[in-house]
Formats: sequence, structure tokens, C-alpha cells
Amino acid sequence: MSGGGWFETVAEAQRRARKRLPKSVYSALLAGSERGVSYDDNTAAFAELGFAPHVAGLSAKRDLATTVMGQQVALPVLISPTGVQAVHPDGEVAVARAAAARGTAIGLSSFASKPLEEVVAANPQTFFQMYWMGERDAMLRRLEHARAAGAKGLIVTLDWSFSHGRDWGSPWIPERLDLKAMARFAPEALTRPAWLMDFAKSRRLPDLTAPNLAESGERAPTFFGAYGQWMQTPPPSWEDVAWLRAQWDGPFLLKGVCRVDDARRAVDAGVTAISVSNHGGNNLDGTPAPIRALPAVAEAVGEDIEVLLDGGIRRGGDVVKALALGAKAVLIGRAYLWGLAAGGQAGVENVLDVLRGGIDSALLALGRESVHDLTPDDVVVPPGFGRVLGSDR
Ligand SMILES: Cc1cc2nc3c(=O)[nH]c(=O)nc-3n(C[C@H](O)[C@H](O)[C@H](O)COP(=O)(O)O)c2cc1C
Repeated sequence: MSGGGWFETVAEAQRRARKRLPKSVYSALLAGSERGVSYDDNTAAFAELGFAPHVAGLSAKRDLATTVMGQQVALPVLISPTGVQAVHPDGEVAVARAAAARGTAIGLSSFASKPLEEVVAANPQTFFQMYWMGERDAMLRRLEHARAAGAKGLIVTLDWSFSHGRDWGSPWIPERLDLKAMARFAPEALTRPAWLMDFAKSRRLPDLTAPNLAESGERAPTFFGAYGQWMQTPPPSWEDVAWLRAQWDGPFLLKGVCRVDDARRAVDAGVTAISVSNHGGNNLDGTPAPIRALPAVAEAVGEDIEVLLDGGIRRGGDVVKALALGAKAVLIGRAYLWGLAAGGQAGVENVLDVLRGGIDSALLALGRESVHDLTPDDVVVPPGFGRVLGSDR
């Protein structure tokens, strides 16, 4: 594996990613917004939760398998959609292969650098992620493309409000990697020879386009071209959400819900699943960590739809905490991006193995035979931990 072989934790993968990636690429993945309150809370909240282990009567065998949106997965951890772009020449295809090798599903971002067809070929358990972006006709064409390419489900992400400032500064990302941009980027890239070699060997530059947003027969739009179109699209109403859901006759996940009232509206709109999420702390800063909002949301709609969570998952124990508090499974973002940067496909497999090992170890200590047996009794929740966002109708 490139990047120094096996690593034992996600934190180590992140350290390697930091060493290997040009500074602007690393900070684009780190992301966060404004003051970083949500970003920090996403991981800090998991550390506030404890476990209540047993010492005897433990289970010799543990079963981590479950189903999510009709897909059998070997562990309750899925790949969350991210616009990976310049992390690694194989990008989302490497991630898809790693997920397939470890028996789990992947969400492919609309802003991904690889065509959906290539990703589905690498992992048939692929969901396509969309934003509410452009005219309805264009959205229908994207749905049709996703259907024809074999996507097993749709992820619709609605928690984005175009917050662009960060107190620690945002990286410069060029519109295109043309000569002018390369000249500006070169001093930074030259300090990261291993990353540069990966791209040199692949004989490709990161092309910073969004092939899955191309209209048929036309060139893929640049990342910023597509982003601009999205910014100009009027935000959807709940009727629009129900309309979009009705256009897709398969599993449909609404990503970014954190309020109880919105979760109920999502049920009314006919979704299959929601992910309790604050977009990894990259959106409206001050939104609490999803793990704080999860119990109330799971209590309200957990019987009606699948409730997932994403944000702040860095170890297997975090996954177990989320499941104990009502999630059916979790999605990971940065954890696999660090793995991808550190070691390509093998690095992502390594991250999934780290999580699998941590889940298994926690199940053993908690005396649980299966991920389905976890209950709130397995975790120690300090007073005042939870947040109930929004109220019932
Ligand atoms: C660099 C980066 C790019 C992202 N791009 C997308 C995207 O294109 N679509 C989407 O639905 N979510 C996107 N997300 C959010 C992730 O899907 C996920 O919600 C978040 O990363 C979870 O938090 P975690 O990184 O702590 O695991 C992105 C996150 C990061 C860090």
C-alpha cells in the first residue's frame, strides 16, 4: 500500500493524509464552517458518551450484518457521499472497490469526480446522491441517468445553505487545473511528492469537473459552474420533496434531517430513510452534533422509516453508540477520505477494518450477539446530553 502500510486508527490515517496531501486539498477535506462549533461537537459529543460493559455472559460470536435501504451490508457502516475530487487519482472508484471488498454500500455525490457507471461497476451497491439543483426537467434527467446506470437508491441532501467562511481560512480551489492554476498550485504540490507521483503515474490531473451533472452529449460542467447553478435554484418546499420522491420508484434517503418535526414531514413525503446529520459540521455552524439529536428523532419516526446518522464517526465504538441510541446504521465521511488519502483503496479497506474491529470489540464487552440487540442501556448518557430540535406538529 502506498503511504506507509497498515494503520491502527482513523486518527493515524488522518495524520498520514495530512503529510501526504497538498495543504489546500487537506484543508478542503477538513472543511467545517464559521467558528467550527458543529464540527468540534460532532466528535466531542461521542466522547461524552460512555459504555456499560459486562464481564461474564458475553457472546463468543458477534454478527455485524444488517440491511439498509434494501441492501444487505456486512457491517452497519456505509460510505457517505463526498465530492472527493483531488484526493487520489482513482477517487470514488477506489472507495467503491474498498466498500465492495468489505461488503458495504456507497453513496456517490453528484459532485463526484467519477461517472456513476464506473462506480456501479466497482460496487453494485451504489446509491446516487442529489441536491435540489436546477430545473425539474434537469433533475428528472439525472434520476433517469441514475436509474439507467443501476443506482440502487437515491440520497437527497437538503442541508446546505451556502455558508462559505471559516475562521481558519478556506483553501483556494481552481476552476480548472490549467497551466495558470498549476503554476499557482505548484509550490504547494511540490512539497507533497508522493501525492504528485500518484497522479503522475496515472497520467491524469485532477480534472475538477462533475461528470454526473453533464447533460447528455455535453461536456461535464466544472465544479464551480455546477455550484453556481445550484446557488441560483430556489430551495424546495415539502411538496417539492414529495414530488421528487414520487419520481423515484426505489429506496429514497433524505440526508440532513435533525429536527423532530422535519423527520415527521419526511415520513409524510414518503421517504424510506433519513440520515440525522449536520453535513459533517460544514453547513450552518451551531447545529448540534447529530448524535445529540438522534434519540428524539429515532423515538419519533424510528418505527416508520430507517433512521441513520452521519457526522463525527471515527471509531467502531462511535458506531455502537449511535446504534444503541436508535440508528439502524451510520455513514462515514472524513474517516474514509483520510484512508483514501493515506493509502487509496487499501486505505479505505483499512478504515472499514478499524471500524469493524471496534464494533466487534464493543459488542463483545456489552454482551451483545448482534448489532440489532443494542439498546440505550448499553451506553452511559450524561445529563443534558441530548438535544430535541423542533417539536411535534
Ligand atoms: C470534503 C467533504 C465533501 C462533502 N461532500 C458532500 C456531498 O457532495 N454530498 C453530500 O451529501 N454530503 C457531502 N459531505 C457530507 C458527508 O456526506 C457527511 O455528511 C459528513 O462528512 C459526515 O461527517 P464526518 O465527516 O464527520 O463523517 C461532504 C463532507 C466532506 C467532509
